[in-house]
Amino acid sequence: MSLSIHEFSTSGEADIALAADIERVLRAALEARGQAALAVSGGSTPRRLYERLSGLELDWSRISVVLADERWVEPGEAGSNESFIRAALLQNAAAHARFYPLKTSHSNPRAAAPAVSERLATCPLPFDVVVLGMGSDGHTLSWFPEASGLDAALEAQGPLAAPISAHPSAVTGAHPERLTLTRAALEGARFVALLIHGQEKASVLAEAQSPGAVTAMPVRALIRDPAIDLQVYAAPAPA
Ligand code: 6PG
Repeated sequence: MSLSIHEFSTSGEADIALAADIERVLRAALEARGQAALAVSGGSTPRRLYERLSGLELDWSRISVVLADERWVEPGEAGSNESFIRAALLQNAAAHARFYPLKTSHSNPRAAAPAVSERLATCPLPFDVVVLGMGSDGHTLSWFPEASGLDAALEAQGPLAAPISAHPSAVTGAHPERLTLTRAALEGARFVALLIHGQEKASVLAEAQSPGAVTAMPVRALIRDPAIDLQVYAAPAPA
């Protein structure tokens, strides 16, 4: 188990530092293996980080960008993480990346999960970089507290994508039905970063480090995982 917390005085400084660390890891991956894989979370916190990454002079045509989780809405509809990533990250140089969105034409995430897992298996895993966020309820990815499907999503071996049916809350908003990368998809990830803004999330992270059920605060699954060296980039709320 390893958790390193990097604290910054502004969210801008956190974004700059994390972007530099991500660039270093991606460049090393391209140098060593000729390709790289990057998993990116949705939400609102990483927007400026992704905008900064989009301009990095990397050979993005050799980088696979995988969406970490998705609400079950069509691209273009409110709440679509795919639309968020296309607008914030897949611009400029990064527009040349190979993108793996999660939304399919299936009626729901449960029906879609097998086909998405199969498609993700064509991605050059393990991930070189995983960018995570965290909700004020202690979820990360779409691993929501006490959600239906959470146990399967936390399995260390198994499918790469899993359906989640979360208990509706202010955090899930109108999107309790999700498709998420699983713990199995993160196996062997080389650089796992958690970006949080604000004192509330800093307090949630502190609580997540205390004893308690993983199902109550699923980010604990990563904090306690001996195979994951979780790098936290924390800053006050964005100016
Ligand atoms: C999502 C994200 C989710 C996000 C957290 C934090 O689909 O919402 O993937 O896991 O990272 O909910 O979201 P904010 O950055 O908006 O606080």
